[in-house]
Amino acid sequence: MGQVILQSDLASLTKAELHVHLEGTVRPSTMEEFLGRSALPVSRVYSNLAGFVEVYGSAWAMMTKPGDYARMVREYCEDAMRAGIRYAEMHITTGARPFPCLMEAVEAASKERDIVMRFIVDVPRTFPIEVGFALLEGANGVPDVVGIGLGGAERGYPPEPFTPLFDEARSRGLRSMPHAGEDAGPESIRGALDALKAERIMHGVRAVDDPQLLAELSERKIPLAVCPTSNVMLGVATSLEEHPLRELWDAGITVSVNTDDPGYFGCDLVGEYAIAGRLLNLDREGYGRLALNSVESSFAPEGLKNKMRGDIADWIRRQ
Ligand code: ADE
Ligand code: ZN
Repeated sequence: MGQVILQSDLASLTKAELHVHLEGTVRPSTMEEFLGRSALPVSRVYSNLAGFVEVYGSAWAMMTKPGDYARMVREYCEDAMRAGIRYAEMHITTGARPFPCLMEAVEAASKERDIVMRFIVDVPRTFPIEVGFALLEGANGVPDVVGIGLGGAERGYPPEPFTPLFDEARSRGLRSMPHAGEDAGPESIRGALDALKAERIMHGVRAVDDPQLLAELSERKIPLAVCPTSNVMLGVATSLEEHPLRELWDAGITVSVNTDDPGYFGCDLVGEYAIAGRLLNLDREGYGRLALNSVESSFAPEGLKNKMRGDIADWIRRQ
């Protein structure tokens, strides 16, 4: 068994973050400012995914001023750099804004020197499909948008009705990356694969309830972008010790760890790696493999992927 790795060393391991919602990265101090715009108090109490999505939606509704999206991008990048993140694919839910917030976010991201960002159109599954089409239209022709996602409360909102939206998005060159198997069962993952042709699944932890599905995810190399702290905060796993990360890893699935909504859950990616290290008993090479999984699960430009692979190999060798 390898030695215990210090946090400062983990922070210098190059990583990609593949499951993080821009509007969920908002720092607590920035959130206070946004919520101060509401005439009514905004509830911050939640104990499950459906409750969280309501709180999240109320805060989202306050992010209405020009500059808000650029600021969230800048602040995320500052925090991400400290965690060793060199590439991120971020969910963003635009639309119903009096200013072009997607372009604002893209422009802010393009000014970052040390971190490359791409965006995923995050469609709320509890809204009519027309909302999804409007969000897709808003991202038309923006090269920094690489994927389409499906988020929000899962129970009672299966993936299948979103088939035409995902078909259209894929025909425009976007990658399919829906949430599934977070608080709905393995059938939602099956739906995401079959109906939405998912190329990466956000969460997907409930795959452990279906051994055949586990084997298929492994065989087809469909990556899962898992978020351990988020899963505990939203009651998806009863505790970190009970988290199914180990079963997914042992099944040979390409798992990465991610923060989901770090502004809400008080987590960062170095902490998620440390949690994974504990759950998976990782030595130095194991941490490297976890970081490599994040690179291989991404849709980063090939040149950047190669650079990240090299940096990870260097980190493994360094002591
Ligand atoms: N939107 C923001 N965070 C989410 C999560 N964990 N699941 C589904 N939708 C989300
Ligand atoms: Zn998410």
